[in-house]
Amino acid sequence: MKPALIQGASRGIGAGIVGLLLERGREVVATSRDPASSEALAALAKTHGERLLTVPLDVEDEASIEAAVAAVERRHGTLGLLMNVAGLLHEGPRGPERRICEVDPQWLHRTYAVNAVGPLLVAKHFARLLQHDDPAVLANVSARVGSIEDDRMGGWYGYRASKAAQNMFTKNLSIELTRRFPQLVVLALHPGTVDTGLSAPFQRSAKTLFSVERAAQQLLRIVERASPEDNGRFIAWDGAEIPW
Ligand SMILES: NC(=O)c1ccc[n+]([C@@H]2O[C@H](COP(=O)([O-])OP(=O)(O)OC[C@H]3O[C@@H](n4cnc5c(N)ncnc54)[C@H](OP(=O)(O)O)[C@@H]3O)[C@@H](O)[C@H]2O)c1
Repeated sequence: MKPALIQGASRGIGAGIVGLLLERGREVVATSRDPASSEALAALAKTHGERLLTVPLDVEDEASIEAAVAAVERRHGTLGLLMNVAGLLHEGPRGPERRICEVDPQWLHRTYAVNAVGPLLVAKHFARLLQHDDPAVLANVSARVGSIEDDRMGGWYGYRASKAAQNMFTKNLSIELTRRFPQLVVLALHPGTVDTGLSAPFQRSAKTLFSVERAAQQLLRIVERASPEDNGRFIAWDGAEIPW
């Protein structure tokens, strides 16, 4: 099996997926803004160092994405899986808006840069490593709250809209990137509510809270079973389709 790249692997769901892939014997590239500062990646390097390559990549810095592609290509050539996991819901005093009066343009732009533009730029530069004649998956980790049809509560303007934009980019990529490479499957995934720093302030309203390990297993099950018929789908942790 060709190597997997997990973008946004320093902690949370991304680190969980890297750990599970390494346990299963896969070659893995883990990217984050500063891999050297990640305790999770340091621990995984101790046990699986020979199959783990860590590469710096900041989705808000296109030059860092280009440098990451060069490093991955040198080591592995092509990839069998790329998961865009990095995401932003809150940072310091800034977080999801409850009402329109809380909307701040700078925060909207930053959320959009990390959650929507970031994964698209990663796809822009890494697509050629996934476009080959063997099976490959490009999976963008989205969120159910990014579904326009599923929005029944309102609020969370920046996060919802940035994930909705990410979803449109994913759908577009599923059409363009697979035209000459029908073995490539492009997906949007909803992990459910997972016990990470991102969800920590909002876990009380969750019906079910998954551990990182469980969420990683559930997402990898979808990715590993994905076939060309799944191309362009928005899929939840349990395999159910989510309306765009
Ligand atoms: N947890 C949930 O309940 C839940 C629910 C639905 C969807 N999701 C989605 O699942 C994904 C992972 O979330 P999580 O819960 O694992 O979050 P998390 O624990 O907060 O981790 C977020 C990750 O994103 C990275 N990141 C943030 N800004 C970045 C940037 N500019 N460039 C590169 N990496 C950046 C962080 O890296 P640094 O270490 O560099 O900050 C970290 O690895 C996100 O896309 C999120 O929207 C999560």
